[in-house]
Amino acid sequence: MIYIPIPIGELPINETYGFDLYLTYNKKYVLFRSRQLPVDENVLLQLRENGVEKIYIEKGDYPKFLRLTARVAGYSGDNSQIRYLQEKFVFIDIHTLRKGSTPDFTVFTVESGLPTPIIAPDLPGVPTSVTEQHLLEFTSAYIFQVDLEKYYDYLQNSWAEEATYQPMNVAGGILMRENAKMAAHGLFHCPEPKEALPVANKAIDQILESMFDNGGTYYALLKISDQDFNTYIHSVNVAVLSMGLGIRLKLSQFQLQLLGLGGMLHDIGKTRIDPDLLLKKTKISPSEYESLREHVTLGVEWCREVPGLPPDVLPIVAQHHEQMDGTGYPDKLKIGQIDPLAQIVNIMEIYDSLTNRQPFRDAFSPFQSLGKMREMGKAINQEFLTQFILMLGEQHRPT
Ligand SMILES: [Fe+2]
Ligand SMILES: [Fe+2]
Repeated sequence: MIYIPIPIGELPINETYGFDLYLTYNKKYVLFRSRQLPVDENVLLQLRENGVEKIYIEKGDYPKFLRLTARVAGYSGDNSQIRYLQEKFVFIDIHTLRKGSTPDFTVFTVESGLPTPIIAPDLPGVPTSVTEQHLLEFTSAYIFQVDLEKYYDYLQNSWAEEATYQPMNVAGGILMRENAKMAAHGLFHCPEPKEALPVANKAIDQILESMFDNGGTYYALLKISDQDFNTYIHSVNVAVLSMGLGIRLKLSQFQLQLLGLGGMLHDIGKTRIDPDLLLKKTKISPSEYESLREHVTLGVEWCREVPGLPPDVLPIVAQHHEQMDGTGYPDKLKIGQIDPLAQIVNIMEIYDSLTNRQPFRDAFSPFQSLGKMREMGKAINQEFLTQFILMLGEQHRPT
């Protein structure tokens, strides 16, 4: 029997679950609450007082749990369960885990839409340490959002030695990239953006620093798994690529920071768009297309509401879909009217979208993508594109 942990903060209160809850005791699962008994505040308090962070349910009951939490959260429609999973789980690159280490958080894979633990500190029957087989067998892995801090500490500890003593390596890059991803996840999922902003700024500073120290680490920063195309991951890619090109173009430190923030935030308006529309896999109608395009103005509104955000980030967000021949949106601006930093972000936006799998098509290779962008002619800044192609050509590749 496989059991799935659930952070106790995610248990709906005063609902009849229809499935049993378990605790672990002496490396065994013991029944904690049977299916008819609702969980109330007192029960939660008791668990917390006893230092219990997770509760367990049988894997077969997990769909019931998902349906219940989606209903309690007020989600509806076909994608409600996916939405719950996207919010509560964070995608990580399995190669950030070191063979032989024992993470103090649970690592999941997703099997037929259900998270299944593959490494866990405390789950009877699940390995506690990372094996060679894990690294070979699984391409994608997930952790609980509530475990992010633990994951981050783990990364710092397990990669610190290599990252410090051999700056020209992948480890440093991985650390930076995961760091940036976490920061972007914070921006996209934190209800209080002003709390997430300092974290994002710090991540951007670290990336810039590592890019300046050595060009070598940013191949790892750019190396993206397309297993899970998510807006926040796309945003990190766009930020990193934009800063890379900015360095090549010898922009000032301030402009580089704007590129980092602008890249991270360019699609933030999508947090205010109907998630079912964002996840739609079938053909999109013209009116739905219009709604999707509203992410630009919604993003600008979002940015205006955040105290402390440099105002120069606004044009980047506002103009990231404008094209130099006037065919972009929302304002059909033309060459000379578009902020050069927005032109850079626009190029990376297109490149990252082409090189990742989309709901309606497969990914293009970097080579194919750059070719397509050449064919776009005057719509994009071809001079920047040339520099970008040269920049990709110069990247150190990990051996
Ligand atoms: Fe966008
Ligand atoms: Fe985008």
